[in-house]
Amino acid sequence: MSKKLWGGRFKKEVDKAFFKFQKSIQYDYKLAEYDIYHSIIHVTALKEAGIINADEARKLMSALTGIFREVRDEKFKPNLAAEDIHTDIQDRVEKKVGKLALKLHSLRSRNDQVVFDEKWYCYKEGIYILSLINVLLNALNHFGTRYGSFYMPGYTHTQRAQVVSFVSYTGAFFCMLERDFERLDAFLKRSFIYIGSGALAGSSIPKAAYSEAIKKFLGSMKPEFRHSRSETVKNSLDNVASRDFIIDFLSILSMLQMHLSRMAEDFIIFSTKEYGFFDLPEEFCTGSSLMPHKKNPDFLELVRGNTGRVYGNLVAVLTTMKGLPLTYNRDMQLDKEPLFSSTEIIEDELKIMAELIQKININEDRILQALEDEELYSTELVEFLVHEGVPFGEAHSVIGKLTRYAQDKKLKIKSMPDKKLHFFHKKLNHKNVKKIMNPEYAVFSKKSLSAHARTVPNTPSKAK
Ligand code: ARG
Repeated sequence: MSKKLWGGRFKKEVDKAFFKFQKSIQYDYKLAEYDIYHSIIHVTALKEAGIINADEARKLMSALTGIFREVRDEKFKPNLAAEDIHTDIQDRVEKKVGKLALKLHSLRSRNDQVVFDEKWYCYKEGIYILSLINVLLNALNHFGTRYGSFYMPGYTHTQRAQVVSFVSYTGAFFCMLERDFERLDAFLKRSFIYIGSGALAGSSIPKAAYSEAIKKFLGSMKPEFRHSRSETVKNSLDNVASRDFIIDFLSILSMLQMHLSRMAEDFIIFSTKEYGFFDLPEEFCTGSSLMPHKKNPDFLELVRGNTGRVYGNLVAVLTTMKGLPLTYNRDMQLDKEPLFSSTEIIEDELKIMAELIQKININEDRILQALEDEELYSTELVEFLVHEGVPFGEAHSVIGKLTRYAQDKKLKIKSMPDKKLHFFHKKLNHKNVKKIMNPEYAVFSKKSLSAHARTVPNTPSKAK
């Protein structure tokens, strides 16, 4: 068992099984970088407030930046015997500067550290996720324009409905993900990173010392991380007690996951032999140990399946927070695994989905064959009659009867002579029916929307 930050008032050693049960280092080591940020700001504030002298501050700072470099260069190996990342970093500082390290934790609490660290995590990963959404939006745009002259059946109730352009199909997913981008962007813009809550009641370090320390710290950051909204605490109780920023973040990721899952489902069914519209890239599929012909869409299935985990993570944190008395409670330690899990799932999915989309091929023959289905054009026939002055209800019923008649008699409406068409309505004839029952006509008769590729929003940075 490593050293603890709190042993003084205890006579007995902590129970081994309990210590193992309560420690969080095995996952909260992912906050190492941000925990060092907290310490860097704190050391400056301690110096500003005259609690440590310039030499002490310099020594502590040099120890902290040394540890930071290890984290940055991915050389940092957490000490799994430590209680948590805060303790682990404290121990490392002590190894470098000896007793002086005991001044590092002056007048601060892990309750303040942990919320600061997690806010930074959401902020940094959030920026990265924005850049990944952008890559996927670009991939969707290219997918749409690669097959820019294509039409395909559009579906409602998983039944063939009307013809749509391929660009509007990919564009629908584009719009969903664009809203996810905007939601995440808005979350990042309104997020504040606070410092100085103490355990709950605030800190005896003056606000001005913290403000100065924050200013110096942000000035040393890369421009994209100069978080203009970092402040000293507004309400220290709220700061240590609240995790709605995590719930917001996990909600945004859940919505994004829902969209990815729907996309996965569409691609799965379109790549079945039954549809046969898409040919999935082999690199993202696996075979069967028994059936030699199989090419299974495992990546897409796992995306769909991960939805249970991502929604579960959101519900886990919501439930953990429900009914907690003010302020910090140890229950809140359990917010980390759900937060990290959803973040990592979403990042992997966005990356791989963009790669997969770049490599999907379209089976033109199967789509053209599907577009031969005359039922896809019955709505266009109704609309044609309406524009000819026929009341909609009458036109709907006329075309319903015509469609049913063609089905029953196994006839093609497009091949029916004028005489037969006139029997259903005098405005119908072979020439106009042929013109209307055509993918291009069907798509271009719609005037209410543009089916062009969209502009991908700017990402604040290409972090990571
Ligand atoms: N590991 C804790 C957490 O994640 C850090 C804060 C601990 N604070 C405390 N008073 N025990 O929530």
